[in-house]
Amino acid sequence: MTDAHTDELANELANESALESVTVIGLGLMGRALASALLAAGHPTTVWNRTAAKADDLVARGATLAPTVGDAVRDGSLIIVCLADADAVREAVGPHRAGLAGRTLVNLTSGTAEEAREIAGWTADRLDGAIMATPEVIGRPEAFLLYSGSPDAFEKHRETLGRLGSATFFGADPGLASLYDVALLGIMWGTLNAFLHGSALLGAAGVKASDFAPFAVQWVSSVSGFATAYAAQIDRGGYPAEDASLDTHIATMKYLVRESAAAGIDTDWPARIQALAERAVQAGHAGASYASLIEVFRGRA
Ligand SMILES: NC(=O)c1ccc[n+]([C@@H]2O[C@H](COP(=O)([O-])OP(=O)(O)OC[C@H]3O[C@@H](n4cnc5c(N)ncnc54)[C@H](OP(=O)(O)O)[C@@H]3O)[C@@H](O)[C@H]2O)c1
Repeated sequence: MTDAHTDELANELANESALESVTVIGLGLMGRALASALLAAGHPTTVWNRTAAKADDLVARGATLAPTVGDAVRDGSLIIVCLADADAVREAVGPHRAGLAGRTLVNLTSGTAEEAREIAGWTADRLDGAIMATPEVIGRPEAFLLYSGSPDAFEKHRETLGRLGSATFFGADPGLASLYDVALLGIMWGTLNAFLHGSALLGAAGVKASDFAPFAVQWVSSVSGFATAYAAQIDRGGYPAEDASLDTHIATMKYLVRESAAAGIDTDWPARIQALAERAVQAGHAGASYASLIEVFRGRA
């Protein structure tokens, strides 16, 4: 080995030993992916899980299995919690909250904004996070994770958090990341429901979902462009029909309802779409853009 290679190796080892120690509490599908990404990046990683056997693969790759949550907390300067829900966090981590002092708590467990704020209240150095990714993409840039809470904690651990996926910080309210989470999940469910409904409709005519999917994907991409234009209208508080008026939308919505009934598939979903638009029309938005439905969702129409 040349001197240059020896130096390179020494530098790598020095960098590795400089990486902060991280604890991951919760080794379900997501927790294992988080711990795996941290191990792959070279972080000294301690793990804890109620069912200890789920740590076996991680331990074989160098993770330390802590026998108790208290031990796990003591081992890390950054404590990542990823359990089923807030009740599990209260039950497993709650009794050890005093041990969090001087460490940073990152709660990546899904929950409400209020639950995020409650858990963040256990310590000063805290972040709540939302994982907009599935376990298999954790550690890659296409995984995006949203954080809110202590700005200092985010700055201090930005590099480590970046090893899980791209990291965005929304400010000091620990509940904000959770709110973004559910709002974004609503987009996922709404979009998927529309795709599944469309697949059922075309399926009744003998079209395979895999033949429909490319057109659905192309259309979702076009529709996503509308969101940017409508966001500007929503923020201005005016909804000029620059593309199509709500009346024009409604005139076409009835066909989705009728075709669904004719195909013998679910009509609740299209009827709900139509009913929301009709409420906006009743509130005086017939000639406005589709963005005027924001008034319905705000509970004002
Ligand atoms: N999977 C995803 O694609 C995904 C994506 C985004 C966000 N998330 C969020 O990540 C979190 C974990 O999801 P997951 O997919 O990893 O779920 P999971 O595979 O069902 O794992 C749940 C974890 O919670 C633990 N747990 C449940 N109740 C507990 C209790 N009372 N005390 C201690 N531990 C308890 C389980 O321990 P045992 O192993 O002992 O049962 C396990 O480690 C959830 O909040 C989820 O919404 C998941």
